Amino acid sequence: MHLKYSLYTLSLFAFFPQIWSRDTSSEPKDVYVALGSSVELPCVDGRNGEISEWRINGSFLVSSPALRLHNTSLDDQGVYTCHDSNGEIVETVRLQLGYPPSLPDVHCWSPSYPLKALCSWSLPQDPILPTHYISTYRLRDDVCSCQRQSEQDRQCVLEELDLFSNVPYLVNITAVNALGSASRVLPVIFEDIVKPDPPVNVKVTALPGKKLHVQWAPPPTWPDPVNFPLKYKVQFRWGNANADSIMGPIESESMVRSGVMPGRTYHIRVSVMDHLGHGQSSEWSDTVNITLPRS
Ligand SMILES: *[C@@H]1O[C@H](CO)[C@@H](O)[C@H](O)[C@H]1NC(C)=O
Ligand SMILES: *[C@@H]1O[C@H](CO)[C@@H](O)[C@H](O)[C@H]1NC(C)=O
Ligand SMILES: *[C@@H]1O[C@H](CO)[C@@H](O)[C@H](O)[C@H]1NC(C)=O
Ligand SMILES: *[C@@H]1O[C@H](CO)[C@@H](O)[C@H](O)[C@H]1NC(C)=O
Repeated sequence: MHLKYSLYTLSLFAFFPQIWSRDTSSEPKDVYVALGSSVELPCVDGRNGEISEWRINGSFLVSSPALRLHNTSLDDQGVYTCHDSNGEIVETVRLQLGYPPSLPDVHCWSPSYPLKALCSWSLPQDPILPTHYISTYRLRDDVCSCQRQSEQDRQCVLEELDLFSNVPYLVNITAVNALGSASRVLPVIFEDIVKPDPPVNVKVTALPGKKLHVQWAPPPTWPDPVNFPLKYKVQFRWGNANADSIMGPIESESMVRSGVMPGRTYHIRVSVMDHLGHGQSSEWSDTVNITLPRS
C-alpha cells in the first residue's frame, strides 16, 4: 500500500525551520533539523495503525508512534526506524543536524585589471550540512553568472566589466542548504578593487661603491605591463630595530640604492600598484636578504 505524499506536522517547539523530504520508496527519508531545535518524527502505519517502537541505529529508543527530540545535538544524528507490532519497518528517517547558512563574508579584488576581477567568500559559521552557492553579478538589469571552476569553489571570476562605470556592479553570493539561504550583495566599482599580485623574482646584487642593485619582474597575473603600466615601491630593512626606508614609486623594474653600509644585512622586498593609482598596492613580494662584506 502506498503512503500518501504529505507534509508532516512540524514540531511547535522548533527554534529554526525544518525541512522534510519524503517519498514513497523504501529509501531512508532525509530530515534536516537545526541544531538545538526540537523535532517530532511522526510515524504512520499504512496497515492498521499499530506502532510498536522507534529504534535508533537499530537499538530500541521509545514505544510511541511519534518520536520527540528536544534541544537536538550532533549526537542525535543517525538512522531512525519506526516498527509495527510485528517488528516490520514502517518508516526510515535519516536525521541530519546543522545550521542554516550565515551571511557569507565576501571579498572582491582585481589582480588583472582591466580584464577581470575575482570574488572569494567564506561563512562565519560552519553550517555542518552540505551547502552550495549561487554567485552572480549585475550592472543595472544585466545579470551574469560569476563563474567558478567547480561547484565547491568559493571563488568566482567576473569578466568583461565596464570600466569607469558610475554605478556599482552588485555581486550577489547566496549560500543555500536544506535549512535556508543567505545572500550577501556587495556593491563593487571595478577601479576601486584593483590590487595586483606581488612582484616576483626579486634579485639583489652588491655593486662597488657601497651600492645595491635590485631587480624584479611584474606579477605574472597582470596583463601586459607595457599597455597597463605599474609602479613599484622597494623597501629596505636592516638591523634589529626594524629600521627601514622605502624608495619609489618607480616605473622601471630595477633600481640602484647607494650609501649602503658594509657588514650590514639588508632585507629587501617590493610592492606594486596600478600606474594610475587605482585601488590598492599589492602585498609585499618575498623578502630577499643580502649581507654586505666588511671592507
Ligand atoms: C541544550 O543543550 C546544550 C548542550 O548540548 C546545553 O548547553 C543547553 O543548556 C541546552 N539548552 C536547553 C534549553 O536545554
Ligand atoms: C548512529 O550511527 C551513526 C553512524 O555510525 C553515528 O554517527 C551516530 O552517532 C549514531 N547515533 C546514535 C544516536 O547512536
Ligand atoms: C541574490 O541571488 C539570489 C539567488 O539567485 C536571489 O534569490 C536573490 O534575490 C538575489 N538578491 C538580490 C538583491 O539580487
Ligand atoms: C630573510 O630574513 C628574514 C628576516 O630575518 C627571514 O625571515 C627570511 O626567511 C629571510 N629570507 C631568506 C630567503 O633567507
